[in-house]
Amino acid sequence: MEVVIASGPEHAGSIGADLVDAQLARNPASNIGLATGSSPLPLYRELIERCSAGRLSFEQARAFLLDEYVGLPDDHPESYRRFIERELTSQIDLPSSALAGPDGSMAGLPTAGARYEQLIEQAGGIDLQILGIGSNGHIGFNEPTSSLMSRTRSKMLTETTRRDNARFFGGDLELVPHHTVTQGIGTILDARHVVLIATGSSKARPVHLMVEGPLTAMVPASALQLHPHATIILDEESAADLVTAAYHREAYSQRPTGR
Ligand code: GLP
Repeated sequence: MEVVIASGPEHAGSIGADLVDAQLARNPASNIGLATGSSPLPLYRELIERCSAGRLSFEQARAFLLDEYVGLPDDHPESYRRFIERELTSQIDLPSSALAGPDGSMAGLPTAGARYEQLIEQAGGIDLQILGIGSNGHIGFNEPTSSLMSRTRSKMLTETTRRDNARFFGGDLELVPHHTVTQGIGTILDARHVVLIATGSSKARPVHLMVEGPLTAMVPASALQLHPHATIILDEESAADLVTAAYHREAYSQRPTGR
Protein backbone atom coordinates (compact mmCIF):
# COMPACT_ATOMS: atom_id res chain seq x y z
CA MET A 1 0.00 0.00 0.00
CA GLU A 2 1.15 3.49 -0.76
CA VAL A 3 0.21 5.61 2.27
CA VAL A 4 0.23 9.39 1.87
CA ILE A 5 -0.18 11.63 4.91
CA ALA A 6 -1.59 15.00 3.90
CA SER A 7 -1.64 18.11 6.06
CA GLY A 8 -5.47 18.20 6.20
CA PRO A 9 -8.67 17.18 4.38
CA GLU A 10 -8.30 19.82 1.65
CA HIS A 11 -4.73 18.74 0.93
CA ALA A 12 -5.89 15.09 0.89
CA GLY A 13 -8.57 16.08 -1.63
CA SER A 14 -6.07 17.80 -3.87
CA ILE A 15 -3.69 14.81 -3.81
CA GLY A 16 -6.66 12.60 -4.77
CA ALA A 17 -7.63 15.01 -7.55
CA ASP A 18 -4.07 14.83 -8.91
CA LEU A 19 -4.45 11.05 -9.23
CA VAL A 20 -7.80 11.35 -11.05
CA ASP A 21 -6.25 14.04 -13.23
CA ALA A 22 -3.29 11.78 -14.10
CA GLN A 23 -5.65 8.90 -14.91
CA LEU A 24 -7.73 11.07 -17.27
CA ALA A 25 -4.57 12.44 -18.86
CA ARG A 26 -3.46 8.85 -19.61
CA ASN A 27 -6.91 7.90 -20.88
CA PRO A 28 -9.68 10.51 -21.22
CA ALA A 29 -12.21 7.67 -21.65
CA SER A 30 -11.41 6.16 -18.22
CA ASN A 31 -13.94 4.43 -16.01
CA ILE A 32 -13.94 6.13 -12.62
CA GLY A 33 -15.53 4.52 -9.55
CA LEU A 34 -17.18 7.01 -7.21
CA ALA A 35 -17.79 6.71 -3.47
CA THR A 36 -20.22 8.71 -1.38
CA GLY A 37 -19.78 9.82 2.24
CA SER A 38 -18.11 12.97 3.49
CA SER A 39 -14.47 11.89 3.01
CA PRO A 40 -14.25 12.33 -0.80
CA LEU A 41 -16.06 15.71 -0.79
CA PRO A 42 -12.88 17.88 -0.79
CA LEU A 43 -11.63 15.75 -3.69
CA TYR A 44 -14.91 16.26 -5.57
CA ARG A 45 -14.80 20.03 -4.91
CA GLU A 46 -11.28 20.11 -6.34
CA LEU A 47 -12.37 18.17 -9.45
CA ILE A 48 -15.26 20.59 -9.98
CA GLU A 49 -12.89 23.54 -9.66
CA ARG A 50 -10.40 22.07 -12.15
CA CYS A 51 -13.24 21.30 -14.59
CA SER A 52 -14.66 24.82 -14.32
CA ALA A 53 -11.17 26.20 -14.98
CA GLY A 54 -10.96 24.03 -18.12
CA ARG A 55 -8.01 22.06 -16.73
CA LEU A 56 -9.82 18.73 -16.58
CA SER A 57 -12.57 17.06 -18.60
CA PHE A 58 -14.83 14.08 -17.96
CA GLU A 59 -16.51 14.38 -21.35
CA GLN A 60 -15.31 10.98 -22.53
CA ALA A 61 -15.20 9.29 -19.10
CA ARG A 62 -17.73 7.00 -17.44
CA ALA A 63 -18.56 6.91 -13.74
CA PHE A 64 -19.69 3.95 -11.64
CA LEU A 65 -21.18 4.20 -8.17
CA LEU A 66 -19.74 1.99 -5.48
CA ASP A 67 -23.02 1.23 -3.75
CA GLU A 68 -26.66 2.23 -3.31
CA TYR A 69 -29.36 1.99 -0.65
CA VAL A 70 -32.21 -0.42 -1.29
CA GLY A 71 -35.76 0.86 -1.40
CA LEU A 72 -35.26 4.63 -1.45
CA PRO A 73 -37.43 6.37 -4.04
CA ASP A 74 -35.46 7.43 -7.16
CA ASP A 75 -35.68 11.11 -6.27
CA HIS A 76 -34.74 10.68 -2.58
CA PRO A 77 -31.97 13.24 -1.88
CA GLU A 78 -29.92 10.67 0.06
CA SER A 79 -29.96 7.97 -2.57
CA TYR A 80 -26.34 7.61 -3.60
CA ARG A 81 -27.14 8.47 -7.20
CA ARG A 82 -28.71 11.79 -6.14
CA PHE A 83 -25.86 12.41 -3.68
CA ILE A 84 -23.19 11.99 -6.33
CA GLU A 85 -25.16 14.02 -8.91
CA ARG A 86 -25.52 16.84 -6.40
CA GLU A 87 -21.95 16.79 -5.07
CA LEU A 88 -20.08 16.05 -8.29
CA THR A 89 -21.46 14.89 -11.61
CA SER A 90 -23.98 17.71 -12.22
CA GLN A 91 -21.11 20.17 -11.74
CA ILE A 92 -18.62 18.61 -14.16
CA ASP A 93 -18.85 17.85 -17.87
CA LEU A 94 -19.59 14.13 -17.44
CA PRO A 95 -22.61 13.34 -19.66
CA SER A 96 -25.53 12.36 -17.40
CA SER A 97 -25.93 9.10 -19.35
CA ALA A 98 -22.35 8.17 -18.36
CA LEU A 99 -23.20 7.72 -14.67
CA ALA A 100 -24.16 4.19 -13.66
CA GLY A 101 -25.04 2.69 -10.30
CA PRO A 102 -26.42 -0.52 -8.87
CA ASP A 103 -30.21 -0.88 -9.10
CA GLY A 104 -31.49 -0.31 -5.55
CA SER A 105 -35.15 -0.94 -6.35
CA MET A 106 -36.92 -3.74 -4.45
CA ALA A 107 -38.16 -5.22 -7.74
CA GLY A 108 -34.69 -5.35 -9.25
CA LEU A 109 -32.93 -6.74 -6.19
CA PRO A 110 -32.61 -10.42 -7.16
CA THR A 111 -30.56 -9.57 -10.27
CA ALA A 112 -29.07 -6.19 -9.31
CA GLY A 113 -25.65 -7.59 -8.42
CA ALA A 114 -25.17 -9.70 -11.52
CA ARG A 115 -26.41 -6.91 -13.80
CA TYR A 116 -24.01 -4.39 -12.28
CA GLU A 117 -21.06 -6.77 -12.52
CA GLN A 118 -21.89 -7.30 -16.19
CA LEU A 119 -22.15 -3.57 -16.83
CA ILE A 120 -18.72 -2.92 -15.29
CA GLU A 121 -17.18 -5.82 -17.18
CA GLN A 122 -18.65 -4.73 -20.51
CA ALA A 123 -17.26 -1.24 -19.93
CA GLY A 124 -13.78 -2.75 -19.56
CA GLY A 125 -13.50 -2.59 -15.77
CA ILE A 126 -12.88 0.29 -13.37
CA ASP A 127 -9.62 2.17 -13.97
CA LEU A 128 -9.59 4.20 -10.77
CA GLN A 129 -11.85 3.54 -7.80
CA ILE A 130 -12.31 6.22 -5.15
CA LEU A 131 -13.10 4.85 -1.69
CA GLY A 132 -13.77 5.94 1.87
CA ILE A 133 -13.68 3.72 4.95
CA GLY A 134 -16.39 3.16 7.54
CA SER A 135 -15.67 3.51 11.26
CA ASN A 136 -15.95 -0.30 11.47
CA GLY A 137 -13.48 -0.81 8.62
CA HIS A 138 -16.02 -1.35 5.85
CA ILE A 139 -15.45 -0.36 2.23
CA GLY A 140 -18.48 0.29 0.04
CA PHE A 141 -21.12 -1.34 2.20
CA ASN A 142 -19.10 -4.51 2.78
CA GLU A 143 -19.58 -4.87 6.50
CA PRO A 144 -17.25 -6.90 8.77
CA THR A 145 -17.33 -10.64 7.92
CA SER A 146 -18.02 -9.91 4.22
CA SER A 147 -16.26 -12.41 1.99
CA LEU A 148 -12.98 -11.01 0.73
CA MET A 149 -13.89 -12.44 -2.70
CA SER A 150 -17.47 -11.10 -2.76
CA ARG A 151 -19.02 -9.60 -5.86
CA THR A 152 -21.78 -6.97 -6.15
CA ARG A 153 -24.77 -8.08 -4.07
CA SER A 154 -27.25 -6.99 -1.44
CA LYS A 155 -25.89 -6.51 2.10
CA MET A 156 -27.65 -5.73 5.35
CA LEU A 157 -26.15 -2.82 7.26
CA THR A 158 -24.84 -3.11 10.81
CA GLU A 159 -26.35 -0.87 13.46
CA THR A 160 -22.97 0.96 13.71
CA THR A 161 -23.10 1.95 10.04
CA ARG A 162 -26.76 2.95 10.22
CA ARG A 163 -25.96 5.16 13.24
CA ASP A 164 -22.93 6.66 11.42
CA ASN A 165 -25.09 7.45 8.39
CA ALA A 166 -28.12 8.76 10.32
CA ARG A 167 -26.60 12.25 10.06
CA PHE A 168 -27.54 12.23 6.37
CA PHE A 169 -31.16 11.45 7.31
CA GLY A 170 -31.69 14.33 9.73
CA GLY A 171 -30.24 12.25 12.58
CA ASP A 172 -33.22 9.86 12.50
CA LEU A 173 -31.97 6.26 12.66
CA GLU A 174 -35.42 4.97 11.67
CA LEU A 175 -35.08 6.62 8.26
CA VAL A 176 -31.76 4.91 7.40
CA PRO A 177 -32.38 1.91 5.12
CA HIS A 178 -31.35 -1.52 6.40
CA HIS A 179 -30.27 -2.90 3.04
CA THR A 180 -27.94 -1.86 0.23
CA VAL A 181 -26.48 -3.12 -3.02
CA THR A 182 -22.72 -2.80 -2.94
CA GLN A 183 -19.79 -3.71 -5.12
CA GLY A 184 -18.17 -6.69 -3.45
CA ILE A 185 -14.65 -6.71 -2.05
CA GLY A 186 -13.58 -8.84 -5.02
CA THR A 187 -15.18 -6.30 -7.36
CA ILE A 188 -13.31 -3.44 -5.69
CA LEU A 189 -10.03 -5.38 -5.85
CA ASP A 190 -10.50 -5.71 -9.64
CA ALA A 191 -10.17 -1.92 -10.10
CA ARG A 192 -6.78 -1.12 -11.61
CA HIS A 193 -6.01 1.63 -9.09
CA VAL A 194 -7.75 2.09 -5.76
CA VAL A 195 -7.61 5.49 -4.03
CA LEU A 196 -8.96 5.51 -0.48
CA ILE A 197 -9.39 8.79 1.41
CA ALA A 198 -9.80 8.82 5.20
CA THR A 199 -9.67 11.96 7.30
CA GLY A 200 -10.44 12.84 10.93
CA SER A 201 -9.81 11.14 14.24
CA SER A 202 -12.80 8.77 13.97
CA LYS A 203 -10.88 6.99 11.19
CA ALA A 204 -7.61 6.50 13.12
CA ARG A 205 -8.47 3.03 14.38
CA PRO A 206 -9.94 1.59 11.15
CA VAL A 207 -6.98 3.06 9.22
CA HIS A 208 -4.49 1.40 11.59
CA LEU A 209 -6.32 -1.93 11.22
CA MET A 210 -6.55 -1.58 7.42
CA VAL A 211 -2.87 -0.75 6.89
CA GLU A 212 -1.14 -2.56 9.75
CA GLY A 213 -3.60 -5.12 11.04
CA PRO A 214 -3.90 -8.68 9.80
CA LEU A 215 -5.81 -9.38 6.61
CA THR A 216 -9.23 -10.27 7.95
CA ALA A 217 -12.87 -10.24 6.94
CA MET A 218 -13.49 -8.45 10.25
CA VAL A 219 -11.82 -5.39 8.69
CA PRO A 220 -12.98 -5.47 5.04
CA ALA A 221 -10.62 -2.62 4.08
CA SER A 222 -7.64 -4.80 5.05
CA ALA A 223 -8.32 -6.65 1.76
CA LEU A 224 -6.66 -3.67 0.05
CA GLN A 225 -3.35 -5.10 1.33
CA LEU A 226 -3.82 -7.60 -1.52
CA HIS A 227 -4.19 -4.89 -4.16
CA PRO A 228 -1.19 -4.22 -6.41
CA HIS A 229 -1.90 -0.48 -6.65
CA ALA A 230 -3.70 0.99 -3.65
CA THR A 231 -3.11 4.59 -2.57
CA ILE A 232 -4.31 5.48 0.92
CA ILE A 233 -4.60 9.24 1.47
CA LEU A 234 -4.83 10.29 5.12
CA ASP A 235 -4.58 13.42 7.21
CA GLU A 236 -2.63 13.77 10.46
CA GLU A 237 -5.68 12.77 12.53
CA SER A 238 -6.57 9.61 10.66
CA ALA A 239 -2.87 8.63 10.56
CA ALA A 240 -2.49 9.10 14.33
CA ASP A 241 -2.58 5.38 15.23
CA LEU A 242 -0.18 4.26 12.49
CA VAL A 243 2.95 2.71 13.99
CA THR A 244 4.56 2.97 10.54
CA ALA A 245 3.71 6.67 9.91
CA ALA A 246 7.37 7.80 9.78
CA TYR A 247 8.19 5.07 7.26
CA HIS A 248 5.31 6.12 5.00
CA ARG A 249 6.24 9.80 5.20
CA GLU A 250 9.79 9.02 4.14
CA ALA A 251 8.72 6.56 1.42
CA TYR A 252 6.33 9.11 -0.07
CA SER A 253 8.89 11.91 -0.02
CA GLN A 254 11.38 9.68 -1.83
CA ARG A 255 8.90 8.04 -4.20
CA PRO A 256 9.99 7.46 -7.76
CA THR A 257 8.06 9.82 -10.02
CA GLY A 258 6.03 8.78 -13.03
CA ARG A 259 3.58 6.42 -11.33
C1 GLP B 1 -20.79 4.89 3.76
C2 GLP B 1 -20.39 4.51 2.34
C3 GLP B 1 -18.92 4.25 2.24
C4 GLP B 1 -18.14 5.36 2.91
C5 GLP B 1 -18.48 5.42 4.37
C6 GLP B 1 -17.69 6.46 5.15
O1 GLP B 1 -21.04 3.82 4.57
N1 GLP B 1 -21.10 3.37 1.87
O2 GLP B 1 -18.56 4.14 0.88
O3 GLP B 1 -16.76 5.14 2.75
O4 GLP B 1 -19.86 5.74 4.42
O5 GLP B 1 -18.32 7.70 5.10
P1 GLP B 1 -17.68 9.04 5.57
O6 GLP B 1 -16.66 9.37 4.56
O7 GLP B 1 -18.81 10.02 5.57
O8 GLP B 1 -17.11 8.79 6.91
